[in-house]
Amino acid sequence: METAEIARRFLAFFEENGHTVVPSASLIAEDPTLLLVNAGMVPFKPYFTGQRTAPYPRATSVQKCVRTIDIDEVGKTSRHASFFQMLGNFSFGDYFKEGAIPFAWNLLTRSQADGGFGLPADRLWVTVYLDDNEAEEIWRREVGVPADRIQRFGMEENYWSMGVPGPCGPCSEIFWDRGPEHGADGGPAADEDRYIELWNLVFMQYERGPGEGKTDFPILGELPRKNIDTGMGLERLASVLQGVDNIYETDTLGAVLHRAADLTGTRYGESERADVSLRVVADHMRTATMLVADGVQPGNEKRGYVLRRILRRSVRNLRLLSGSADDRDYLHDLTATTIAALGDIYPELRTGADRIHNVIDLEEKNFADTLRSGTTLFNRAAEKAAAAGGTVFSGADAFQLHDTFGFPIDLTLEMANEQGLTVDEESFHSLMREQKEAAKRDAKAKKLGQADIGIYSRLLEGSGATEFLGYTDHESEARVLGLIVDGEPVAAARAGDKVELVLDRTPFYAESGGQLADKGTVAADGRGVVDVEDVQKPIPGLFVHRGTVRSGEIVLDDQVHAGIDSERRASVSRSHSATHLIHSALRNALGPSAGQAGSENQPGRLRFDFTANEALGTSRIAEVEEEVNTVLAGDIQVHDFVTSLDEALSMGALAMFGEKYSDRVRVVEMSDYSRELCGGTHVGATGQLGVVKLLGESSIGSGVRRVEAAVGLDAFRRLSTESMLVSQLSEQLKAPREELPQRVEAIVSRLRNAEKEIEKLRAAQVLQAAGELAGGAREHGKALLVTHQAPEGTTGDDLRRLALDVRGRLGEERPVVVAVAAVPKDRPVVVTAVNKAGQEQGLKAGELVGVAARVLGGGGGGKPDVAQGGGTDPTAVDSALRAVEQRVAETG
Ligand code: ALA
Repeated sequence: METAEIARRFLAFFEENGHTVVPSASLIAEDPTLLLVNAGMVPFKPYFTGQRTAPYPRATSVQKCVRTIDIDEVGKTSRHASFFQMLGNFSFGDYFKEGAIPFAWNLLTRSQADGGFGLPADRLWVTVYLDDNEAEEIWRREVGVPADRIQRFGMEENYWSMGVPGPCGPCSEIFWDRGPEHGADGGPAADEDRYIELWNLVFMQYERGPGEGKTDFPILGELPRKNIDTGMGLERLASVLQGVDNIYETDTLGAVLHRAADLTGTRYGESERADVSLRVVADHMRTATMLVADGVQPGNEKRGYVLRRILRRSVRNLRLLSGSADDRDYLHDLTATTIAALGDIYPELRTGADRIHNVIDLEEKNFADTLRSGTTLFNRAAEKAAAAGGTVFSGADAFQLHDTFGFPIDLTLEMANEQGLTVDEESFHSLMREQKEAAKRDAKAKKLGQADIGIYSRLLEGSGATEFLGYTDHESEARVLGLIVDGEPVAAARAGDKVELVLDRTPFYAESGGQLADKGTVAADGRGVVDVEDVQKPIPGLFVHRGTVRSGEIVLDDQVHAGIDSERRASVSRSHSATHLIHSALRNALGPSAGQAGSENQPGRLRFDFTANEALGTSRIAEVEEEVNTVLAGDIQVHDFVTSLDEALSMGALAMFGEKYSDRVRVVEMSDYSRELCGGTHVGATGQLGVVKLLGESSIGSGVRRVEAAVGLDAFRRLSTESMLVSQLSEQLKAPREELPQRVEAIVSRLRNAEKEIEKLRAAQVLQAAGELAGGAREHGKALLVTHQAPEGTTGDDLRRLALDVRGRLGEERPVVVAVAAVPKDRPVVVTAVNKAGQEQGLKAGELVGVAARVLGGGGGGKPDVAQGGGTDPTAVDSALRAVEQRVAETG
């Protein structure tokens, strides 16, 4: 049985049983916790959790899925694939175990003549979760599976979740016995090669929290209702029904695999090593094509990296197959094969073919360039390792490959592995870290303008470190020791010049420890004024004031008056003190693992990055906020003192991870509540902060989270604006403030119901037209023909319903062709339907729709009884329908 037919039967069976057929969602998950859709249930997740009300009680789908966790296993076993299609049926609070179990069994065992899959019952085994007596009862009593073919398993096997917080539940699985030649008797518990999992029925009834692996997570509670989520791998079922050993020999995967063999002059089944490569290519080409079709672009992060990696693995495996000197381009041809193999099920592959080819071809070309230049270096390094009698590929060489040729470490690891070498990853990563730090230093230097570090070093040597007065003074007299304009030392700077200024002493705080620099002025009495916009320390000890000469001139050796903007300083200091308080409150809430990972203190605002593996969530944010504001009200004094690093650490002062400290350190303490090593400026007592408002939380990378906060007057203004907004809403909705959430919910739900009602009315309207259309059927060639343009806005589904209804009304005696079209949203859609008698005359709905779609500037196809297509030109609908008429006349 062909894969397409298996999918069709599956959907038809569940449609007959009251399920709504839902088309596959895009591989790009809407769910922010997931990179890519990895199970049939993903698009339905909000219905399971109760976030949204399901628009139907039962659904069924064939969902495209990508799983890349075990990408290294792909091709090595007969069952792993990174792209696969999941057949599923779903119940949202409708039927439960008593419905799902008999459905699955009936469909699998019903004869093929009756629309089932015709699997012999005595080759099926069943597993249930440890204590799930209810499921076992149903299997035995309702379905009649003998007790000795039901086995019980624990959480690892028979408990399903998405791997992230969300719905979950125990499951029951159906296994296929491949036969005694594949392993020992005894069911799934005895041999996982002989008994393969076919269908997973998940009894989705709980909600899980965060955690690792398949077993280590908390159950947070029950879902609002009991649901069903099932999943059966289409490719796996195809391998069973097509009587082949593994999924790679099924019709659609086989097409790509054999094409890859032809292109590389190899044959499948001759050597295990080549077979693995062929399977990798077959799988990866499908994954890549489907990802690109859904809009993923190759890149260095997230989905883009998944795509880049599998394309690169495809290229390398193709070269392994054909001999490494070969650098032909293969991917275009294989992409075309993939599109042909899957295009019937996923028409977007055909319509998007040009774009898909462009993306994949370009990535192949870029990678070929990378490989060409890097492989020589790789081989030399590998030889060096072998010559030294070792098996270790040096970290320095891996780093150079990465740095110079853009070889990702994965690629070096794989290539080394093929030669029996291991890579010194530790030294690779330490070189990467060094490079990152150098880049950071460099960025800092850039911020200062063009001056090279040498100029600053000479200034520091000549005049010594700048004396910082800013902890106590906001103004001071000073002498100009250095002037730099356009990166060059100068003797004077004039009005309009951008200048860097070094003084012997200064009240200006230079940006560091997350605290932004002071702003202010430097004035030479009666001569000139510089507006200072930023202050940096390009090398330790040297403060460089950066600004513009506002008027007059400033000359080396001038006596000047330096003064900071005190209001800005006070506001930044408030933010910095608030940062320390938030740091302590977060540690109190999350434990000592919540370390500081970065921060920025601006006037009135701050952000604080910290390490944590999970979101704080609104309730803990509220706790942290409340704790901080309580400390403010306590008006704790803020002290600072200098002591030895050892002494400070033994007092429990918090240090920033990875930061280098000298032996003498400054400690800022707020009684026992907070004690940190810190060079920043702070308020005198916490009461000066007024109020601190957390503005929310986000993730900024793996394991690092960020909170932002408003402080003082800024926090007050924010609260006040929000309060006003709530008053306005309350007035507009004529509801007391505390009832606003319910009121909004009620309005949204009324709106949704109204939309549904409109949808129903529109569908009814469309069908009303059916009687009239059938009445107006014309004799045309040998057929009765109806062509019709439905009103604008009619959807593809409506058209399909209409076409089938009209066809049904015209009976089976005469050949009938119905072609209806509409423009739902800018783009025209056309549906054709032909009855049995028509098909026997050679009139095929799939072909007719193709004729129309070409006129519309697009494509389409489908089965002989009913088919859908579309295009881009909404003005061509009339001509498209006429083209169908003509084709019918010619065929007749
Ligand atoms: N969601 C279940 C699975 O992916 C059916 O196995």
